[in-house]
Amino acid sequence: MAARGACDPPGPGASLRRLVLLLALSVSALAAADASGVFEVQRKFTRHGDGGEGHLSALREHDGRRHGRLLAAIDLPLGGSGLATETGLYFTRIGIGTPAKRYYVQVDTGSDILWVNCVSCDGCPRKSNLGIELTMYDPRGSQSGELVTCDQQFCVANYGGVLPSCTSTSPCEYSISYGDGSSTAGFFVTDFLQYNQVSGDGQTTPANASISFGCGAKLGGDLGSSNLALDGILGFGQSNSSMLSQLAAAGKVRKMFAHCLDTVTGGGIFAIGNVVQPKVKTTPLVPDMPHYNVILKGIDVGGTALGLPTNIFDSGNSKGTIIDSGTTLAYVPEGVYKALFAMVFDKHQDISVQTLQDFSCFQYSGSVDDGFPEVTFHFEGDVSLIVSPHDYLFQNGKNLYCMGFQNGGVQTKDGKDMVLLGDLVLSNKLVLYDLENQAIGWADYNCSSSIKISDDKGSTYTVNADDISSGCEVQWRKSLILLLATTVISYLML
Ligand SMILES: *[C@@H]1O[C@H](CO)[C@@H](O)[C@H](O)[C@H]1NC(C)=O
Ligand SMILES: *[C@@H]1O[C@H](CO)[C@@H](O)[C@H](O)[C@H]1NC(C)=O
Ligand SMILES: *[C@@H]1O[C@H](CO)[C@@H](O)[C@H](O)[C@H]1NC(C)=O
Repeated sequence: MAARGACDPPGPGASLRRLVLLLALSVSALAAADASGVFEVQRKFTRHGDGGEGHLSALREHDGRRHGRLLAAIDLPLGGSGLATETGLYFTRIGIGTPAKRYYVQVDTGSDILWVNCVSCDGCPRKSNLGIELTMYDPRGSQSGELVTCDQQFCVANYGGVLPSCTSTSPCEYSISYGDGSSTAGFFVTDFLQYNQVSGDGQTTPANASISFGCGAKLGGDLGSSNLALDGILGFGQSNSSMLSQLAAAGKVRKMFAHCLDTVTGGGIFAIGNVVQPKVKTTPLVPDMPHYNVILKGIDVGGTALGLPTNIFDSGNSKGTIIDSGTTLAYVPEGVYKALFAMVFDKHQDISVQTLQDFSCFQYSGSVDDGFPEVTFHFEGDVSLIVSPHDYLFQNGKNLYCMGFQNGGVQTKDGKDMVLLGDLVLSNKLVLYDLENQAIGWADYNCSSSIKISDDKGSTYTVNADDISSGCEVQWRKSLILLLATTVISYLML
């Protein structure tokens, strides 16, 4: 059972960090994507991997795709308190090392690398108010832990070449700084990752794979605060360095995963594999982007299209639309916001909207689902995403509601607007990331229930929702958002 502290409100920093992380990584990832050298070196990774492992695993991956026989499904037990849910903090439990120890890591679709805090880490938290036990990874305390040196393929691929300062004994270092001033730095190690392979209806068996990940030697800023402290971050981005890509390259899984984030009870479902129920209609991912970008065609409010300039969302006119489950709210360009706002309140000219910490809030005594229209986003491939009034109008006290959609903010230096769709629109839906077919899709879903996932051995199994967090009642969770959004906008404008 969680300590009382698990229900204390966290500071805004932890959640902000997540949003900033998205940005920080998008900058670095864009830079990497532009360098063609990265692609060449990473191709080498699969051809001349250590001891032939890379080569074989590439073949297995290829075969797996063709025959669909070798690959398993994985259930990542999910946690996230009501509050954490609202701020995009979901975490899972993994095992690392021999003997395996337990680590709680934030799951994050906006970054690529798995890292955990390491023993003798400077500035790492010793306790967490999330009601979990923190563990520091010790490469020497694990019989299977090994340093990654800078001349090894994982390192070379990550840096797009051999670093000039590299000698064969020097470690492969990494350093990530976030816009809010927090940071992690350390070195890469390789060890066994233990995970729950789906083996029956509601059942899993332990399985393992050797993967490379970051060993955090120094933590700065809010990452070290004990409020929402975890052991590390598990990036579910698309790059070859992610855990998912490594498992896929080792022939263990398909490059497909899904999440169902539950804002009703907390927790939800996070699974790797091919979801067969619910059925999900997908829209193509924009190729070669560091994040999960999709093509937005238009927006309706209550069935009427917003009167916007034609092609406003086309790539020539905008930076596109990012789906990011680690972002809390949803950000649209100012022109879109104004039109949207006017239509949402069209039938309520009597309502007086007040500004509360930069949110537009109003008093309303009825059911918002009866009184306000649904907002529908239309994407390429005739895929739509419906946002109910109770999702975009969040309650912030008795009869007080605030608008969750945010005005602009996500404007880049060249003056182009980006749409950023976060948990506000993604929660309580099954969201499937099919990286093999470069598509993403969703379906309205009860995230406290279960999904069916196929493991490519011809079996289909039920994966149940779970919540490994403490599950406290937090009434103030929504009001926390008020503290966050303005700062978020300024970060996104960097
Ligand atoms: C990632 O790995 C795949 C094979 O596993 C390879 O085809 C691809 O080129 C790599 N991506 C990059 C960006 O190097
Ligand atoms: C990894 O899995 C294999 C096969 O199930 C098992 O024999 C081995 O003990 C496991 N290794 C670790 C480090 O857990
Ligand atoms: C969601 O599913 C859970 C578990 O099956 C069930 O207890 C709950 O009533 C469902 N919620 C809704 C709104 O249907």
